[in-house]
Amino acid sequence: MSTSDLLSLCLFSYVVFLCFPYSGAVYSKSKECKRLDIFDIILRDKCPRTSILQSFKTWRFDRRQVLATTFPLDLILQNYVRQVPKCLFSVVYPIPLKTETSLVSYSEGVLNDILDLSDHVTTTKEFVDFVSGSWVLSSSVPLSHRYGGHQFGYWAGQLGDGRAVMLGEYTNQRGERWELQLKGSGRTPYSRQGDGRAVLRSSVREFLCSEAMFHLGIPTSRAAALVVSDDPVMRDQFYDGHPRVERGAVILRLAHSWFRIGSLEILAKNKEFQFLRQLLDFVIENFFLHINTTGKDKYLELYSRIVSDTAELIAQWQSVGFTHGVCNTDNFSLLSITIDYGPFGFMEDYNPKFVPNSSDDEGRYSYEKQPDVGVFNLEKLGEAIKPVLTQQQQKQLPHILKGYESIYKDKFMKLFRQKLGLYTDKEDDENLLAVFLKIMEDTKSDFTMSFRELGEIDLLGLKTEAIPQNYWSLNTMADHEWFWKWIIIYKKRLELEGTTEKRRQSLMNKTNPRYILRNWMAQEAIEKADRNDFSGVNRLLGVLERPMDLDPEAERAGYSSRPPEWSKSLRVSCSS
Ligand SMILES: *[C@@H]1O[C@H](CO)[C@@H](O)[C@H](O)[C@H]1NC(C)=O
Ligand SMILES: *[C@@H]1O[C@H](CO)[C@@H](O)[C@H](O)[C@H]1NC(C)=O
Ligand SMILES: *[C@@H]1O[C@H](CO)[C@@H](O)[C@H](O)[C@H]1NC(C)=O
Repeated sequence: MSTSDLLSLCLFSYVVFLCFPYSGAVYSKSKECKRLDIFDIILRDKCPRTSILQSFKTWRFDRRQVLATTFPLDLILQNYVRQVPKCLFSVVYPIPLKTETSLVSYSEGVLNDILDLSDHVTTTKEFVDFVSGSWVLSSSVPLSHRYGGHQFGYWAGQLGDGRAVMLGEYTNQRGERWELQLKGSGRTPYSRQGDGRAVLRSSVREFLCSEAMFHLGIPTSRAAALVVSDDPVMRDQFYDGHPRVERGAVILRLAHSWFRIGSLEILAKNKEFQFLRQLLDFVIENFFLHINTTGKDKYLELYSRIVSDTAELIAQWQSVGFTHGVCNTDNFSLLSITIDYGPFGFMEDYNPKFVPNSSDDEGRYSYEKQPDVGVFNLEKLGEAIKPVLTQQQQKQLPHILKGYESIYKDKFMKLFRQKLGLYTDKEDDENLLAVFLKIMEDTKSDFTMSFRELGEIDLLGLKTEAIPQNYWSLNTMADHEWFWKWIIIYKKRLELEGTTEKRRQSLMNKTNPRYILRNWMAQEAIEKADRNDFSGVNRLLGVLERPMDLDPEAERAGYSSRPPEWSKSLRVSCSS
């Protein structure tokens, strides 16, 4: 039987574009100076590392705060909730937490490699005050950003940083410019109904997940530090009329830029075309260095780059089962990095309809819909850029967007070929993959561990139709009537590679993570953290920093075992 025969057994065609889920070309991950190409011209020199600061006292933001000096600022300095016209930022000071704060976790990589700071600083009062928002450096002009967005399909008007404050910009020793934000630092003019705070539970999740995504090789914002307090924050976690008091927390997070699709949308909607042009030019000049800044098609080129980067980002999400949960245009970065970690989730049992947001009943942002949502959001981006285009150029927008489909699909297949241990590219690979996924879906097998175990098992040693007991996820798959047929076809396909079993395993085991941030793992760490024990958070952080490497402690904790029964009933809420 060939793969196509086997596929025709599927009653529906699985290989349709956009119903496809994908992994990790590893770039931004390395410690060397190699970087994503959009940033490499910012690299002023080739990676010299002079020293890292042992003390925080002499650390400074950039002398010139580019955002605050480039863009119009809100003239009102009082911090109250309002509509803010004709500007991009309001100056907003963080509101210190009232009770004592402690720094309970930090990312060593962010501190050392991005902020040029040694771990010692985390024990100093200055640093803790800085990351909790109670001490603002004199070189800082703290800002909250005004943006808008389409939420759940509809234009939502002004949104903006409702609980985030940009502390400043820092250009590190490698010449990379980073924007530092506090999240959970109190009310801003954009807080709407909110109190501007973040609770421990959601802060732990964002802190861990953004670092986990980075180490999976997926473009993302980073998190430097997690601070907790005893400040009471009221939250109705499941929106069921049972609010309770939770603890306030703050994270320090970083990105090269926090601009979103919604940043442009609000300027276009409000006909602030001069600012729209200014923001577009800024983004091109700073982050899309291959675009000719005097070329007459520069905005179209920008659009085209964002379309393709977003398609590739979503393919990467699919490759690890990451489901963002709130793919609104205000949560989609212009640099196509993952931002705004809310009710996200990593799919466990393979189920294309997986939704992490417990109140998203219609499944708008399910795993399988993410690629479509990308198209929707990019269409909105096109509408926002329209006012600065000629009529002729406007006609190009839909053509550019049409390219998304094939970019997405190519990236998806590239990543999933690697997940299957294939170095070459053959016509029937889509079917091979589709059947593997279909078996996984029918048997409710674990997405992460099925790929991982397929890479760990010795296929040549499999003589009889039996999978050793310790491969729990493959064992579940093996209950399916197609499984062994699939294995035969897979082995035939591998013969075409002309490679060794060792090379197959090696590719798969550096592509398929053994550890992802499963909800139950986060939940366990959060429950401990609630009791002031942060060992769970720190252990998870350590494991997720090396998601491909077998870790005895992680094994003992069951991080690669069948998820516990109680995890099935966990609900993730969006009230954060
Ligand atoms: C950039 O565009 C301008 C105007 O179209 C053109 O004169 C110039 O040659 C271009 N530069 C490069 C490097 O392509
Ligand atoms: C963006 O996502 C966050 C967290 O995922 C969500 O709570 C929020 O509704 C979205 N943004 C805004 C401004 O609404
Ligand atoms: C989750 O989905 C529901 C229903 O679509 C929506 O009203 C809610 O705002 C979503 N949560 C977040 C954080 O956006």
